[in-house]
Amino acid sequence: MGDTRANKRFRSQEWFDNPNNPGMTALYLERYQNSTFTREELTSERPIIGIAQTGSDISPCNKIHVFLMDRIKAGIRDAGGIPMEFPVHPIQETGKRPTAALDRNLAYLSLVEVLHGYPLDGVVLTTGCDKTTPAMLMGAATVDLPAITLNGGPMLDGWWQGRRAGSGTIVWESRRLLAEGKIDYPEFIERVCASAPSLGHCNTMGTASTMNAMAEALGMSLPGCSAIPAPFRERMSMAYQTGRRIVQMVLDDLKPSDILTREAFENAIRVNTAIGGSTNAPPHLQAIARHAGVELDVRDWETVGFDLPLLVNMQPAGEYLGESFFHAGGVAAVMGELQEAGLLHEGAMTVTGKPVGQNVAGWRSTDHKVIRPVTQPMREKAGFLVLSGNLFDSALMKTSVISKDFHDRFLSDDGREGIHEARAVVFEGPEDYHDRINDPALAIDEHCMLFIRNVGCVGYPGSAEVVNMQPPDAVLKAGISHLPTVGDGRQSGTSESPSILNASPEAVVGGGLAFLQTGDRVRLDLNARRLDALVDEAEWQARRDAWTPPELVNQTPWQEIYRKTVGQLAQGGCIELATAYRRVAQSLPRDNH
Ligand code: FES
Ligand code: MG
Repeated sequence: MGDTRANKRFRSQEWFDNPNNPGMTALYLERYQNSTFTREELTSERPIIGIAQTGSDISPCNKIHVFLMDRIKAGIRDAGGIPMEFPVHPIQETGKRPTAALDRNLAYLSLVEVLHGYPLDGVVLTTGCDKTTPAMLMGAATVDLPAITLNGGPMLDGWWQGRRAGSGTIVWESRRLLAEGKIDYPEFIERVCASAPSLGHCNTMGTASTMNAMAEALGMSLPGCSAIPAPFRERMSMAYQTGRRIVQMVLDDLKPSDILTREAFENAIRVNTAIGGSTNAPPHLQAIARHAGVELDVRDWETVGFDLPLLVNMQPAGEYLGESFFHAGGVAAVMGELQEAGLLHEGAMTVTGKPVGQNVAGWRSTDHKVIRPVTQPMREKAGFLVLSGNLFDSALMKTSVISKDFHDRFLSDDGREGIHEARAVVFEGPEDYHDRINDPALAIDEHCMLFIRNVGCVGYPGSAEVVNMQPPDAVLKAGISHLPTVGDGRQSGTSESPSILNASPEAVVGGGLAFLQTGDRVRLDLNARRLDALVDEAEWQARRDAWTPPELVNQTPWQEIYRKTVGQLAQGGCIELATAYRRVAQSLPRDNH
C-alpha cells in the first residue's frame, strides 16, 4: 500500500479546499458536513471515492450491494480514502417495461453527470444485472476517472426436482412444456421461481454473468471477482479488496483509458466465446469501446472470436450454474486456460496495475467437468457468426447453443456450413407473434423461418429480447423444439435459441427486414455468411419505394429523447452524440453560484 497523501492535488480539493474561492468552498464544506463527513475529513487531502450504488428494492439482482456497501467503504477507509455512496438510476432487466435496454443509456448519462459534476477522485462501479454493467463501464469510459467494477455475484444454484434450474433457461424450457400440455400453469410458475433461491444476479451464463465476465476480461475488476456467488464470504472479501484497490488507483492515476484498449476488447471477445457468453455482449462492448474511443466493429466478433473453443459447461450452452463455475476457478481460470494456449493478449493493463497475463498466471481450471482445457473443449469454433444480406447489413448467430436436432437440420459437421431455404413468416412485434403464432392460416411447419421486426432500438423502443420465438404448439408437439428465427431485436442471454438477431439497421429506420412479406422465400447460406430474401430486384425496389415507416408512439419523454438520439445495435445502440465526448473529468465544471 503506497502513501495515501499523494503529492498531487486531487480533483475533489477544487470543491473543498480552495482558498481562492472562499464563498463556494464554504458552501461545499457546509453542506457535506451536515450529514456524513467532518470538515477535517473533507480537507484532509485524501481522495474521495464515489460508490455508484445500483442496488435497491426495485433492482433485486443488484440488491446485494446494499449489504456489500459496508465492506467497500471499510476497504476505502483502510486504504486512506473517503467513501461517498450515491444512487444510480435503476435498471432491472425483468421488471422494467418496455425494456431495460432503454434505461442503459439513461443510467450512462446520469453517471457521467454525477462523476463530472461532484467532488469525486475515483469510483467503485457496482454491477450485476445485465445492463448495469455496460452502463457503468460506458460512463467510466466517457469520464475517465479511475474506476473499478464490483459485481454482486450470481445467485446460488436453483434446483427443481433434483436438476439444476438456471435463471431464464428454465423459462424457455418450461414454456415449451406448458405449450405441449406437459405441465400446468402453477407448476410453470413454481419451476421458474425455483431458479432464483437467493440474492444475486442470474446464475446462468446469461447476459448478467456474461457482462460481469466481460468487465473482468477487460481488466476493469479484480481477478476472480465476477464468478463469486452473491452470498459467499469471498464476495464480502472481494468488496473490501475492491474498496482498498480503488484508492491506490487514484494515487497512481490509473484510469479506464489505460485499461480499455483494443487488446483488452479482443481479450473480452475471446473470453466471451470460451464462456458461451450472451449475444448481448456485442452491442454492450461496442458501446463501451465507442465511449472509450477504441475501434471495434461487429465483424470483429467473428474474426477475433469465432475460431475459439467453448470451455465453460454452464447453462444455456451446457449443464452447470454459477456455484460450480466459481468452484472451478471462474473467469480468471478461463483466462488462464486461454493464456496457456497462447490465446490471450497478456500485456493488457488492468485495475491491479499489472498486465492481465500476470494476474491470471496462477489461475487454471480446478474442475474439468465445468471449465475444460483448450485441448478438450465443449465445442470447437464456438463464437458468433456475423451475417449480412438484403435484409440487414449485419446480424449475429450464436453457435455455441445450437442443439443437435437443429444442427443436423441446418449445418454440416464443422458447425459453420450449410445452405437452407425456407418460407418466411413475418411478425410485426411480440404482440402480433403471440396473437398469430398458432393461427392455422399461417401453415407454419419445419420448412418455415420466423421473422420479427420493429423490435430494435428505435422501434420498440430499446430493442426487446423477443427474437427467440417458440414454434407453434403443433410443431412443438411434432417434436421440433426450434425453428430458425430472425429479428431486429435481441434475445435473452439465457436462451438456447439459435436465432439470427441484433439485425442492423432495424426495420423502422428502413432496414431490409421492413420489406419482407410472409410467403417470401428466404435463403440462409452460412458458407457465405448471408441471409437473403429471394425476391427479384424490381419487386424489392417497388416495396422499398412504397414503404412508409410505422408510427412510433412515445409514452414518456425519455422514450422520445432516446429514439431521437440512439444508433443501431451494430454500433452499440449508443446515444450517438455522446460518443464524441472523451475524458470529461479533465475539464472542471464551473462553480454553481
Ligand atoms: Fe437481473 Fe438476470 S434479470 S441479472
Ligand atoms: Mg434479458
